[in-house]
Amino acid sequence: MDLTGPVLGIESSCDETAAAVLAPDGAILAESVFSQTEDHARFGGVVPELAARAHLSHLPGLVAGVMEKAGVTPRDLGGVAATSGPGLIGGLIVGASFGKGMALANNLPFVAVNHLEAHALTPRLPGLLPGGAAFPYLLLLLSGGHCQCVAVEGLGRYRRLGTTLDDAVGEAFDKAAKLLGLPWPGGPYLERMAKEGDASRAPLPRPMFGRPGCDFSFSGLKTAVAQAVSKGQAAHADIAAAFQTSVAAVVADRARNALEMAPGATALVVSGGVAANSAVRASLSTVADKAGLPLVAPPIRLCTDNAVMVAWAGIERLRAGLTDPWDHAPRPRWPLDELSPAA
Ligand code: KG4
Ligand code: ZN
Repeated sequence: MDLTGPVLGIESSCDETAAAVLAPDGAILAESVFSQTEDHARFGGVVPELAARAHLSHLPGLVAGVMEKAGVTPRDLGGVAATSGPGLIGGLIVGASFGKGMALANNLPFVAVNHLEAHALTPRLPGLLPGGAAFPYLLLLLSGGHCQCVAVEGLGRYRRLGTTLDDAVGEAFDKAAKLLGLPWPGGPYLERMAKEGDASRAPLPRPMFGRPGCDFSFSGLKTAVAQAVSKGQAAHADIAAAFQTSVAAVVADRARNALEMAPGATALVVSGGVAANSAVRASLSTVADKAGLPLVAPPIRLCTDNAVMVAWAGIERLRAGLTDPWDHAPRPRWPLDELSPAA
């Protein structure tokens, strides 16, 4: 299908309210993210009801802002794409309803975007790799809510090779950080603390390391951190360093196996908030080098939740002639392998 104009993307599945306008070729005309972190920090995690209310109050202004910055009116758009799952249902209803309303009022096609597909397609955005990443590639999605290895074989064609049996990797960082007395969300604070520590002074387990397949498990590591802290055997910074070293080693080991399960992959792609961690990036870069593949780590603002990736997923779907009906209901749970592939 020919795209007749720019696409508006809307993200509201967790605690980032975001809007972006992309030209039909994927050029970013305007983008904006409002992070609600401060609203939730004092509760030590995302409070769904607060998040939904914050999306409702911030989204209209954010959308107006990006439309103005991009210099487009709703009539100029070629379509509207809004995250419709998986995520917190309140926020999904706010974003999807807003997107549908705009599309309906302006006679535009609507795309109900799967948030995981949006992360998965990000490396195809023009400008990150010459010509965009070509299918197939291996995606490691490492965030606070998701932790999986996915073979991205084509638009709408995803094979989940492995996932976490308990906590997501970002969640593990946050829980370990909390045990170390750091603020939420703890990943970045833990990374900073780890720089002052010596991992060899607080040996921690490496769950799943060396096992077949590419599943993850982090709850045992979290328990080990809790015990190390309560016994006071090592300095907090040493425990932080050991935790990070252990996670980086496990992620690399899982990525190595996942690459073997995804023959033909043209790149190793890492996304999600934990992709910001330099130890994790460094160990993945070694894995990619050994496999003779490029490691694609999008800039952090495109790794964490954003609307550029949602607009881009919308563009890929619209180009393939895929749109969604007005009665498409947001889905709190929506596995990647339940997507409609391109014909
Ligand atoms: O992708 P994201 O922004 O949100 C979702 O979870 O969807 O990821 C946030 C997660 C949090 O758990 C945060 O602690 C973690 O990513 N994170 C980090 C770092 N920066 C963010 N973890 C380790 N090191 C970092 N530098
Ligand atoms: Zn996400």
